[in-house]
Amino acid sequence: MNSTPLPVSQFASQLDELVRAGGEQAPDFWPRLGAAMRELVAKDDWLPDSMAKPHPQYYQQYCLYADEQDRFSVVSFVWGPAQATPIHDHTVWGVIGMLRGAELCQSYEIAPNKPPKAVGAVERLEPGQIGFVAPSIGDVHRVSNAFDDRVSISIHAYGGNIGKINRHVFPDDGAPVKPFVSGYSEPAAG
Ligand code: FE2
Repeated sequence: MNSTPLPVSQFASQLDELVRAGGEQAPDFWPRLGAAMRELVAKDDWLPDSMAKPHPQYYQQYCLYADEQDRFSVVSFVWGPAQATPIHDHTVWGVIGMLRGAELCQSYEIAPNKPPKAVGAVERLEPGQIGFVAPSIGDVHRVSNAFDDRVSISIHAYGGNIGKINRHVFPDDGAPVKPFVSGYSEPAAG
């Protein structure tokens, strides 16, 4: 069992406060959420190696913190070289903070029986930078490692236990939406 790194515990306390203050309904929710995530990824000296290990084939999602009441969760997202997600949604608010390397994010619009349509430019997140997702502000995207020769790591927090939430993958060709539950990766040994 891994113990929670102190910066993650402090971040989780801030999330707890934000949720108790009304979550997304509170007027200063997004700036406070963003500030908390910026603080968390301002330093890259706390992520245990067991939560930083890439898989040769699949991007990894290690659970750093899951609220007992499933109100929020914090995940370390580890990209092997050139790995990418399918186009997917989250169904809850999310904040992404770049810790190591860089990632690329493309947003999509979804219409029934049509292929997902890319909207806006590809955004590149560099260490220390953050991004948001949520049904209220745009919830569908594809994310990829910006590098094809090295590992990248971002830290994500969501307004629910993201490993348990029923959400969706949107096939590129407009084929029917696929329900999925992401689960979490097993922390690497050693
Ligand atoms: Fe995502």
